[in-house]
Amino acid sequence: MKKYTKIKDISNLQETIKEAILLKMNPFEFEDLGKHKTLVMLFFNASLRTRLSTEKAAKNLGMEVMILNVNDAWNLEFEDGTVMNANTSEHIKEAAQVISQYADVIAIRAFPSLTDKQKDESEFVMNSFVKYATVPIVNMESATAHPLQALADAITISEFTKKEKPKVVLSWAPHPKALPQAVANSFVEMMQNLDVDLTITHPEGYELSEAITKNTPINHNQEAALKDADFVYVKNWSNYKDYGKVLNQDENWMMTKAKLGNAKFMHCLPVRRNVVVEDAVLDGQQSVVIQQANNRTFAAQIVLKQILGKL
Ligand code: CP
Repeated sequence: MKKYTKIKDISNLQETIKEAILLKMNPFEFEDLGKHKTLVMLFFNASLRTRLSTEKAAKNLGMEVMILNVNDAWNLEFEDGTVMNANTSEHIKEAAQVISQYADVIAIRAFPSLTDKQKDESEFVMNSFVKYATVPIVNMESATAHPLQALADAITISEFTKKEKPKVVLSWAPHPKALPQAVANSFVEMMQNLDVDLTITHPEGYELSEAITKNTPINHNQEAALKDADFVYVKNWSNYKDYGKVLNQDENWMMTKAKLGNAKFMHCLPVRRNVVVEDAVLDGQQSVVIQQANNRTFAAQIVLKQILGKL
């Protein structure tokens, strides 16, 4: 693998999931692969799981890790040909090349603005690093995608499924703040590449990009969508059509134990208790959110392993 900015960078998804599960059983098997190699992680936004699990993954492979909260560095300019006489101090052209002097792999977290759809969809931060850095780039959640989370989700479903083709439901949930579509986008894309029966349920008007949903069934009746589900993935996203707006906070869309039936409950975390999902679900036996978070390490580790193998 030369980079991991999108799910399509994985050449053999089934094999990669199997290898990640093997790594989980023996996490230090390749502890010398990353010796004298450095992962630089750049955070434009907050993180708990991604930051710790990716660092752990790199260290399991013997890598050194350096972390920069980008807001503590110089303000970056991403436009070409700008007269930089205002707030930006350093151009991405220099910054990406300079960071590449210290890094063998660069991992980046950069959320969307949720105000400028076109700019967000251009993935200008991630793509600028791909363009100007001279080392491989890993996406730790960008404007439109969270492929490391989606890989951890796929590993989790693989581990817990008892069926050849489980029914998986992505169910929108209310939230007081405007959240990106990235997790939902990548989860849908990942499930479309696995042998699962995927349904999306959300209030009318909360459609994700058609470029993402393609032919996946969408049902605006949550109860009907959840019938006989094996896995229910709950996630809020802000409105895509009326971009970045919170138009619906209907608490009837919160996940409850009664609605969940016999399904496993999934969420990428962090999660707002009793807004997105009731306590009884998170504290119950059907929740696999902690196992999902644990699998973030092995998703990152298999990606870094495949990248290190190509250096
Ligand atoms: N799920 C996830 O990406 O968590 P963090 O935002 O804490 O990294």
